[in-house]
Amino acid sequence: MPARNDAALEFLLSRRSRPAKTLAAPAPTREELRPILTAAARTPDHGKLEPWRFIVVEQPAMARLADLCAETGARLGKSSEDIAKARSQFDLGQLAVAVVEMQTASPKVPAIEQSYSAGAVCLSLLNAALAAGWGANWLSGWASHDRGFCEAAFGLAEHERIAGLIHIATETTAPPERPRPDVDAITTWISA
Ligand SMILES: Cc1cc2nc3c(=O)[nH]c(=O)nc-3n(C[C@H](O)[C@H](O)[C@H](O)COP(=O)(O)O)c2cc1C
Repeated sequence: MPARNDAALEFLLSRRSRPAKTLAAPAPTREELRPILTAAARTPDHGKLEPWRFIVVEQPAMARLADLCAETGARLGKSSEDIAKARSQFDLGQLAVAVVEMQTASPKVPAIEQSYSAGAVCLSLLNAALAAGWGANWLSGWASHDRGFCEAAFGLAEHERIAGLIHIATETTAPPERPRPDVDAITTWISA
């Protein structure tokens, strides 16, 4: 039997993202980030395909991504308001880990299960960062789903896409709790 871990359970019962726009320097160093990435890579994955990898966006790269985001928005005909909002995650970003989903053709593991595993990596990364005492937030945005942006910003190959951009830095203000699902309303018990 696994040993009971009340601290871990308490963490999971109270964990909460910190909005990216409230995060400030310092961001974790490469050394501080390593155990967080290691925890995230310890994620269930059907068939041991490991259909994901990390791209760490450090602060000096943020300006380039913000400009690319604006160029992408112009190409897609986005409003100036939409563009300003989308680029702000890079304008304000200190450090972000792009979780890249890498699809592999497999007779055993459907594509959607590889996507689920990549999503699970995003949550593990978010939780590991929070558990390590950092503020963290899982973002996406239309640019992260645009092939041209993904190729220019991250050099993604055709079989790759962004599952999430996990921003990690220092919390400046604690967010209020938000309403949580009514577990009884979303749970069905089958006993026969
Ligand atoms: C796949 C995914 C993409 C998201 N993209 C964005 C985004 O682009 N912008 C945003 O404000 N929130 C986005 N969110 C929501 C934030 O991560 C939000 O902070 C989170 O739902 C708060 O959850 P928590 O309080 O349980 O940590 C996204 C969430 C997920 C799961």
